[in-house]
Amino acid sequence: MLGPLPFSLWHLSLFRMAVAPPSYCFVAFPPRAKDGLVVFGKNSARPRDEVQEVVYFSAADHEPESKVECTYISINQVPRTHAIVISRPAWLWGAEMGANEHGVCIANEAINAREPAAETEALLGMDLVRLGLERGATAKEALDVIVALLEEHGQGGNYYEDANSCHSFQSAFLIVDREEAWVLETVGKYWAAEKITEGVKCICNQLSLTTKIDAEHPELRSYAQSQGWWTGEDEFNFSEVFSPADDHLTCCSGRDTLEKQEESITVQTMIDVLRDKASGVCVDSESFLTTASVVSVLPQNGSSPCIHYFTGTPDPSRSIFKPFIFVNDVKLVPKAQSPCFGDDDPAKKEPRFQEKPDRRHELYKAHEWARAVLESDELVCFQKPRLPRPSLECWW
Ligand SMILES: *[C@@H]1O[C@H](CO)[C@@H](O)[C@H](O)[C@H]1NC(C)=O
Ligand SMILES: *[C@@H]1O[C@H](CO)[C@@H](O)[C@H](O)[C@H]1NC(C)=O
Repeated sequence: MLGPLPFSLWHLSLFRMAVAPPSYCFVAFPPRAKDGLVVFGKNSARPRDEVQEVVYFSAADHEPESKVECTYISINQVPRTHAIVISRPAWLWGAEMGANEHGVCIANEAINAREPAAETEALLGMDLVRLGLERGATAKEALDVIVALLEEHGQGGNYYEDANSCHSFQSAFLIVDREEAWVLETVGKYWAAEKITEGVKCICNQLSLTTKIDAEHPELRSYAQSQGWWTGEDEFNFSEVFSPADDHLTCCSGRDTLEKQEESITVQTMIDVLRDKASGVCVDSESFLTTASVVSVLPQNGSSPCIHYFTGTPDPSRSIFKPFIFVNDVKLVPKAQSPCFGDDDPAKKEPRFQEKPDRRHELYKAHEWARAVLESDELVCFQKPRLPRPSLECWW
């Protein structure tokens, strides 16, 4: 395709076609996932020395006509943003992945498409992750938010903190809630999306949607036709039409691991997949490293809270997945302490130890409960009553 171009343009195109980092994200629904659970996981592959941080933002009300400063551009704020927890490269506004208080999880993938991504500064795919979480109370709402912002502001700008060259990419998203997931793939302002409610889905740094498209940009097909990428007669196959010529749908090795899994998929299965270097899902190459990871478990029964396990550190095979749960009325209170029994404490009275009081402090209880989720093969752990509001400090 580039053959006939004069040398200088060909050269320029090579520069612009940075290789998208091989990040992976997954979602598993029952019956492949354990009964009643949706399990979501994402490894973020980024430049090796980039630091990622886990940050919580409370829900907030905003003044009419206020603006929000994203990574490169400022856009209109909405009246209210949801509480979110995100894992993000420390230099930018958006996020590689995260969750909101309504049990919506979003992950972003940088992808290469037939058309190079714009270098002009606009929204980054990572900004759209955060905007979707702040503004969408369901997966479908977050999808609508993202595609509307994409249409209005476009995507573009440097994905890396690099003064020497601009690495710009198109974006794909996995947007998940307790009931359904949407795979959203975008090329400039054009997009297509597929709804998923069962089985396992993986996305990586290539386009993956084919002929099952459940929502799309109204001019997607006419645009493809105007570019000479689709005849209008063949069946419309999104990856075939929009992928670079040499790209084949090969990258989701992790999905094979998940699909071969005989037992049902749990949080632990997802963590094991993300930690696996042999399959390439855990990236540790010359340029890229898995710099942060998350696994979220979303009970389909809305009366149980969602739990989000973040590493916040590079290399999941050498990291701990730490649980986070959204709670109401979060206040930063002093660290939880053991309940105080004073002089009545059976350990202080003789004869000693006539009773054994419940000494579990809030952090202990929260961990006990999160551990049960990791280990249990049954749903029983979700039938426990709601946690008595652990403070945010308990978790971090
Ligand atoms: C869509 O195109 C891709 C890439 O060429 C191909 O691998 C896949 O089999 C096609 N899918 C369908 C359903 O035609
Ligand atoms: C959801 O969980 C609650 C609390 O354990 C239980 O009472 C309720 O029956 C469950 N609902 C469904 C639809 O399973």
